[in-house]
Amino acid sequence: MIAINNVSKWFGDFRVLADCTTRIDKGEVVVVCGPSGSGKSTLIKTVNALEPFQQGEIIVDGVSVGGLGRGLPKLRARVGMVFQHFELFPHLTVTENLTLAQVRVLGRGKAEALAKGLRYLERVGLAVQKDKYPAQLSGGQQQRVAIARALAMDPIVMLFDEPTSALDPEMVGEVLDVMVGLANDGMTMMCVTHEMGFARKVSHRVIFMDEGRIVEDCGKDAFFGDIDARSPRAREFLSKILNH
Ligand SMILES: Nc1ncnc2c1ncn2[C@@H]1O[C@H](COP(=O)(O)OP(=O)(O)OP(=O)(O)O)[C@@H](O)[C@H]1O
Ligand SMILES: [Mg+2]
Repeated sequence: MIAINNVSKWFGDFRVLADCTTRIDKGEVVVVCGPSGSGKSTLIKTVNALEPFQQGEIIVDGVSVGGLGRGLPKLRARVGMVFQHFELFPHLTVTENLTLAQVRVLGRGKAEALAKGLRYLERVGLAVQKDKYPAQLSGGQQQRVAIARALAMDPIVMLFDEPTSALDPEMVGEVLDVMVGLANDGMTMMCVTHEMGFARKVSHRVIFMDEGRIVEDCGKDAFFGDIDARSPRAREFLSKILNH
């Protein structure tokens, strides 16, 4: 579904991604972790062309993301992205947030968009909140709306960039539950997260990044179970976060 081949990116002289190569198969859930500044957000943003890159290639569902191919706008609409800060439109109600891009980008009729939006809102457990504005919802609820909004676009893959790290602790679980449900339904997911419980429960693979490089890319069981086989940097990282 996603092939990242020898991708490098620079911000000026600073190499933020260094020869990154990996692939994510259909239905696979891959967790990306690593220290702050290691390039996780940048890598995930290159996948839906939010960040350009200078070297290598990224193919998503057969479409090259690097070039300005004809299929690119269409592809971007089908790659769902959920950020740390929910990025709902503050001046629009939940329902309007759920339907806007469906109508504007996918050209769906209003009734169809509404039906679809409400179906996903129901799925994230927020049907009764449909007429509220984002500011009237908790952070966890806003993030669930953001996930419903992405799902309403019928994504072929979902990208998450630390979707729970801005949330109060008691709201983390409700968002992770939605993500676990998606993973169990077979959604292809690439998730930047430090929620190692989530990684252990539903991921298939874990990618560990350091200084712009993919240092580890291995099965979940190897990543968590065979610590001695991990790189020193990954071991240090794991020992820090697993001890908390
Ligand atoms: N627009 C930019 N211009 C210059 N440097 C940038 C820009 N965006 C990010 N960087 C730098 O690139 C590096 C990687 O940033 P990135 O946001 O991808 O890291 P990250 O692994 O997601 O970190 P965090 O865990 O803190 O979110 C950092 O050193 C950052 O300062
Ligand atoms: Mg980041």
